Amino acid sequence: MLFVLLQIALDACAMQNAIAAIHKPLPGEQQMSVREILQIGHPVLAARAQEIDIAAIDSPEVQGWIDDLIDTMRDANGAGIAANQIGIPYRLFTVEVGDNPRYPYKPPIPLTILINPVIAFLSDKTFEANEGCLSVPDMRGTVTRHLEIAVSGYDRDGQHRSFNVRGYSAGTWQHEHDHLDGILFPHRVKDPQSFCSWSAFAEFHQAEFADRVRQLVDTWGS
Ligand code: NI
Repeated sequence: MLFVLLQIALDACAMQNAIAAIHKPLPGEQQMSVREILQIGHPVLAARAQEIDIAAIDSPEVQGWIDDLIDTMRDANGAGIAANQIGIPYRLFTVEVGDNPRYPYKPPIPLTILINPVIAFLSDKTFEANEGCLSVPDMRGTVTRHLEIAVSGYDRDGQHRSFNVRGYSAGTWQHEHDHLDGILFPHRVKDPQSFCSWSAFAEFHQAEFADRVRQLVDTWGS
C-alpha cells in the first residue's frame, strides 16, 4: 500500500516536472513583462523624450523595451502606450486596437510599433475626440484632433514606414505622439466642463459619442 502511494506521489511529481518543462521559456523567448505605468505629474511624462539611435533598434535593450510596451499596453487594455509612460525616456510607442473594453467604439488598428515617429497634418480638418489615458486615472476629456495625418517612423526591424491615417483613428496616433513631447490629453482640453470620470462618461456621454465615432468611421473608413 505504502509502495503504491509512494509510486503515485512520484508519478505526480514526474508529471509536474514534465508540465514545468513544457512551460519553460525557450532560449531567447521573452518572459511576459508588465511594467508600472507612470501617472500624470511624473517628471518623465512631462519631458520631451529623446530620439533612439536607429543602429541600436536591434539591440536587446530596445527590443526588450518594445516587448515590455506591448505587454503593458495589452495588460491595461490600452489602445496605445508611449515609452515614457513606463519610464523609458525615448521616442517609441505602440498602438493596437482589437475588441477593447475600454474603448468599445474604436475601430481596429493592427499592432504597430513606431520608433522616432513623425506626424504631419494633411489638412486643416479637425474633430472633437473624447479621450482617456493610462497615465490619467479615471478621467476623460474632449480634445481637438486632426482628421487626416501622415505618420512615419521605424518599425522594430529598423525598416522605415510611412502611411496616412484618416478619420477617428487619427486621434490615437496624435495622442501617443503627444506623449513623446510631454503632452498629455488634459493639456489639450479647451473646455474644462468636458472633464468627466469613466463611469460618468459611460452613463451620460458614451452613446452620443459612439454615434459620432460611427459617423466618422462611415465617412472616413477608420
Ligand atoms: Ni495616453
